[in-house]
Amino acid sequence: MKKITIAIDGYSSTGKSTVAKMLAKELDYIYVDTGAMYRAVTLFAMRKLFISEASFDIESLLRHLFMVTVHFKRNEDTKEADIYLDKENVEKEIRNLKVSNYVSQVAAVPEVRKMLVKEQQKMGNGKGVVMDGRDIGTVVFPDAELKIFMTASAQERAQRRYLELTGRGEEVSFEDVLENVEKRDHLDTTREDSPLVRAEDAIAIDNTNTTVEDQYHTILQLAKDRIYGRI
Ligand code: DC
Repeated sequence: MKKITIAIDGYSSTGKSTVAKMLAKELDYIYVDTGAMYRAVTLFAMRKLFISEASFDIESLLRHLFMVTVHFKRNEDTKEADIYLDKENVEKEIRNLKVSNYVSQVAAVPEVRKMLVKEQQKMGNGKGVVMDGRDIGTVVFPDAELKIFMTASAQERAQRRYLELTGRGEEVSFEDVLENVEKRDHLDTTREDSPLVRAEDAIAIDNTNTTVEDQYHTILQLAKDRIYGRI
C-alpha cells in the first residue's frame, strides 16, 4: 500500500495532536509531535537560566545548542512516544504553562528551527508519517500528500487547554491560559522565520464546533483518498 506524509499544522490547542495520534494508530504510521521538540529545547534553556521572565539570553542558548539532544522513545505503558531531553523523560514537564509561556520565543530562533527541522525531516523521510506543528506543510514537508490546517476560536482553545492543565492538577486560571494562547498566536504568526501560515494547498478545518470523532473521520477519509489514489 502506498505510504504518504500527513502534515497537520495550526494554532495551539486546536487538537492537532489528538487527531494526529488517532490517524497514526489507524494507518500504522509514525506520529511526530514537533511542538514537543521546541518545548524540550525551551526546558533546556529554562534550566540553564538562559530564559526567564526578565530576559532571554539567545547568545548563551546558541553556544550551548550543540549539547541539546532531543529524541522520542515509546512508552510501553501508554503506547505513545515520550520526549527525552538527553536521557531524561521530560514528557510531563514540557507541558506546563511556564514552558508554554516561553516556547514561542525559543521557537522563533532560526538556529533552533534549523536544528529541529533537520531532525524532523530525518524522522519522516521514509513517509508513513503524521507530523503536527506549525510549519510542517510549508517548510518541513512542503511536498506532503495531505496537508491540514486546523483552527478554532481562541476562547474554545483556551477552554480546552484549561481543562487539560487543571485535569493534570496544575493550578492555573482561565484568564492566564487565554492570555498564553493569544500571546502565542501572535508570536507564532508574526515571527520572521517560518511563521504559522496556511500552506496554499492545505485544507482548512475549523473545529470550534465539531467533535474530535467527526474531525478524525473527515481527515481519515482525505488520507485514504490519497493512499488509494482516488485523488
Ligand atoms: O504544538 P505546541 O503547542 O506544543 O507547540 C509549542 C510551540 O512550539 C508553539 O507555540 C510554536 C512552536 N512550534 C513551532 O514553532 N513549530 C512547530 N513545528 C511546532 C511548534
